[in-house]
Amino acid sequence: MKFFVDTADINEIKDLAATGLLDGVTTNPSLVAKSGAKNFISLIEDICKIVEGPVSAEVAATDYPTMLKEGQRLAKIAPHVAVKVPLTEDGLKVCKALSDNGTMVNVTLCFSSAQAILAAKAGATFISPFVGRLDDVGHDGMQLIADIVEIYSQYPKFETEVLVASIRHPGHLIDSARMGAHVATLPPNVIRQLYKHPLTDKGLAAFVDDWAKTGQSILDAA
Ligand code: E4P
Repeated sequence: MKFFVDTADINEIKDLAATGLLDGVTTNPSLVAKSGAKNFISLIEDICKIVEGPVSAEVAATDYPTMLKEGQRLAKIAPHVAVKVPLTEDGLKVCKALSDNGTMVNVTLCFSSAQAILAAKAGATFISPFVGRLDDVGHDGMQLIADIVEIYSQYPKFETEVLVASIRHPGHLIDSARMGAHVATLPPNVIRQLYKHPLTDKGLAAFVDDWAKTGQSILDAA
């Protein structure tokens, strides 16, 4: 399973990339606004220098001709940019045009299986169903992931990867992995929560104390 980080904060990306566990980055206009970055193109260039895997950069327009031009501009930044387009009729037209030319496309704002089928037919590299936002309105976000994974598995010619987005907690990630989703994009705080278990902390404290009692040093040993 691939791990992407869902942020436009360059310091967070550097920090998490240093773990060696990061496979890509997703950004969106809200995350870019939150980062305070003043030049979006430079921001994506900088992220692409840090992370070798797919870096999602979202178009800002909503009409086909402008989205297509924006997507082509973003794709020029680096070969590992995945142009992010919304799941609309125009967005999927852009997806088809860009993917036919070899550009990676991440189709975002997916909230139904029908939308996911359309994105796969349009040649999307990634489909991004938003589980947290579905949970927020009383739906079952993880059921959508299960349904899309099952549907895609019926059609080996669908190459679109299921990228679980709008993840709010580690449980979303664990369920996604159990269902066989290809990618999870995680906010930095959720990635950090994955390391944590109280019994790990307790056990480590006991090992450190007991080791001190031996009076030995591994590095100073003959
Ligand atoms: C991912 O590509 C999305 O932009 C993101 O996961 C949305 O998450 P949110 O619902 O927490 O804003």
